[in-house]
Amino acid sequence: MLTIQHNIDLGEHTTFGCPARAEHAAVVTNIQDLQEAVAYARDKGLAIRVLGGGSNVLLTGNVAGLVIINQIYQRAECVDGHDVHIRFGSGENWHDAVTWTVSQGWSGMENLALIPGTVGAAPMQNIGAYGVEQASIFEELEAFHFESGEIRKYTAVECDFGYRVSVFKRELRDKVMITSVTYRLSLDPKLVTSYRDVQEELAAMSITTPRTLDIYNAVVSVRTRKLPDPRVIGNAGSFFMNPVITAEQASELLEKYPTMPNYPQSDGTVKVAAGWLIEQCGWKGARNGASGVHDRQALVLVNHGGAVGSEVLELAEKIQRSVADTFGITLVREVNVW
Ligand code: EPU
Repeated sequence: MLTIQHNIDLGEHTTFGCPARAEHAAVVTNIQDLQEAVAYARDKGLAIRVLGGGSNVLLTGNVAGLVIINQIYQRAECVDGHDVHIRFGSGENWHDAVTWTVSQGWSGMENLALIPGTVGAAPMQNIGAYGVEQASIFEELEAFHFESGEIRKYTAVECDFGYRVSVFKRELRDKVMITSVTYRLSLDPKLVTSYRDVQEELAAMSITTPRTLDIYNAVVSVRTRKLPDPRVIGNAGSFFMNPVITAEQASELLEKYPTMPNYPQSDGTVKVAAGWLIEQCGWKGARNGASGVHDRQALVLVNHGGAVGSEVLELAEKIQRSVADTFGITLVREVNVW
C-alpha cells in the first residue's frame, strides 16, 4: 500500500542540499506503487514530478503537486555470445550499477563510474564522461505515461539522444517516468582511453595495457581528485553544458585566446570548455553567500553549507552574464531548476 507524505523536506533528497518542501511526495518501489501514485495525483488534479537521485536538480522554492521519489530496483542479465544485456530498474544507483557490471567482468560502463544519480536519469540527459556517452551502450528503456497509464518501450532512435539531451528532457518532460533501462555490455572489452585525463591517470598507475577494471579505477581516481563529493559539499556536477559554437566564432576566439580548449564536432561546429571560459572570467573559487564556484572545476557550482537555491541561481546568472560579455557565448544550464 502506497503512502503519500505531505509537506516533506526535499533538500535531503537532492545532492545540492538546498532546502525546499514538497506539497505531496510518494516513494515508489514498483509499477503498482507508481500506478497508485499517478491515480492519486489525477484524482486531486496535481502536477507530477519525478525525483531520482536528485543529482541534477536545484531546488529554488517549494514544489507544488506530487513528487514521485523513484526507488524501483531491479537487475536482470542475459548473456548472448559476447553480449551481455542488463535490465536495470530505473531507481538503481548509477555508480553502484557500474561497479557491479565491472566486478562481473562486463565492459561498457567503466568510463561512466562515479556519476551521481540513478539509472533512470542517465538516458534522460544522456550522461557522458571521459569519451563515452550512455547512448553508446544503450539498448532500450521502458517509460510509464502518466496520462494513458501505459508502459511503452523506446529504442535509442526514439530517445533521440544528443549532447546531454533526449526526448525525455524535451517533448516528454514531466509526462512520463522511465521505469527500466537495458544496456548492452560486452565480455570482449573495447576500451575507450582517448580522454587525456584517463591516459595520464593510467600512466601514473604504470598501466600500459589496461583492462576494464583499470579504466574504472582511473576514472574514479580522476573524478575523486577533480570533482567535489556531493556527500561532503553539495553540488550537481557540471552546472552548465559545454557550449557549441560555429567554426567561424571559434577561429575568431582562438586568435585572441590561443590556449582555449576546443573540440571540433563532425558537423563542423566546435564545442568549447565552459569550465575554461568561467575560469578565465575569474570565477573559479568565487562565492555568492553560501554558494560558490568549485576551486578545482569552475563548471561545478557548490553549496558550501546552508545555501538556498536562489543564491545558487543568482551566482549562475552572474556567471552567464560575465561569459556572454567576455566571449559572446551563452551558457545553457545542464542542471534542472525546480
Ligand atoms: N577547464 C579549465 N578550468 C576549469 C575546468 C575545466 O580550464 O575550471 C578546462 C580543462 O583543463 C580542460 C577542459 O576545460 O581542458 C575540459 O575540462 P574537463 O575535462 O574537466 O571536462 P568538462 O568539459 O569540464 C565534461 C562533462 C563532465 C565530465 C567531464 C569528463 C559536461 C557539461 N561536463 O566536463 O560531466 O565528467 O567532461 O568527461 O559535458 C556532468 O555532466 O555533470 C559532468 C561532470
